Amino acid sequence: MKTIRRIGVLTSGGDAPGMNAAIRAVVRVACYHELEVVGILDGYSGLINNNMIEMNARSVGETLQKGGTILYTARCPEFKEEAGVKKAVENAKAAGIDGMVVVGGDGSFRGARDLCRQGLPTIAVPGTIDNDISCSEYTVGFDTCLNTVMDAVDKLRDTCSSHARCSIVEVMGRDAGYIAINAAIACGAEVCLIPEKPFDFETDVLRPVLAGKARGKRHTIIIVAEGVKGVENLEKMIQEKTGIEARTTILGHIQRGGRPTVRDRVTASRMGGRAVELLLEGKSNRIVCMQDAKVVDVDIEEGLQMKKTISEELIELAKKLSV
Ligand code: ADP
Ligand code: F6P
Repeated sequence: MKTIRRIGVLTSGGDAPGMNAAIRAVVRVACYHELEVVGILDGYSGLINNNMIEMNARSVGETLQKGGTILYTARCPEFKEEAGVKKAVENAKAAGIDGMVVVGGDGSFRGARDLCRQGLPTIAVPGTIDNDISCSEYTVGFDTCLNTVMDAVDKLRDTCSSHARCSIVEVMGRDAGYIAINAAIACGAEVCLIPEKPFDFETDVLRPVLAGKARGKRHTIIIVAEGVKGVENLEKMIQEKTGIEARTTILGHIQRGGRPTVRDRVTASRMGGRAVELLLEGKSNRIVCMQDAKVVDVDIEEGLQMKKTISEELIELAKKLSV
């Protein structure tokens, strides 16, 4: 087994609060084990373009509390081609890197798998606000994102109640509804639409909105995940069919920023630290993940093939709570 002496770390794909805590954990745990660390800037582009910096324990001081990623991130189409991966591995080897940690989402994990296939031992750490990594019950950034959504929806509710309006709030999540369903429960939404469950306007929107009005509610909050199809005319349809004035708010990229919460800092630190130790144990091609609140690891390929479903219990609870 080749001894690991120098590791590289990068963040890739959409940024997520807590990525800095993950980077810090990789750097500090590596320093603890007397390894050298290279930070790769701008995700996989930094490997292809040799954009790298030497890091030590001090390089990650004052970063734990910051949103974004100090190593920056990028989407790098070149890296999806074999030539791009080969160039990246050549550069990494020339820089003396003998193990990599990649923090990102499932796209980035495909890249991590490709690095392994070209002979560079790599460990992946889930960092995405979407919480859509099947093999892990948690991804770094999800909790901070949800707290941002909760603050925003609480504010929208104030004005919504004052005017007896309906507030339609679009949240992120790409093709997944985890942000939406958890926000719906945390914010007391009357309706929650997620991509995993096709909806019927009469049954799933109109009926609960009218029932709420009949029960004397002054506000209606509808949370819609960005991946839901067929919601273009929701505002107009609600106004026409219920007489309730509706306003739409797209929360957008505000959901990706901000100081990471305790949960994100602690989870990122645990996962980042474990990634380094896996490399030291001679492991490669693994995703560090959270299962039953424990940090474990699974094969990247197997992890990517797993399917994650949204708990029916959460969906039902959101409905029950909105009576
Ligand atoms: P995320 O990691 O948040 O899911 P992306 O899907 O945008 O974000 O992926 C981030 C980067 O990972 C891409 O820009 C690309 O460099 C790399 N990547 C994505 N998909 C693949 C793939 N199928 N094979 C190799 N690399 C990939
Ligand atoms: O994967 C994180 C995420 O914020 C998704 O929720 C969203 O669909 C996407 O990234 C937005 O990407 P971009 O920053 O390229 O607009």
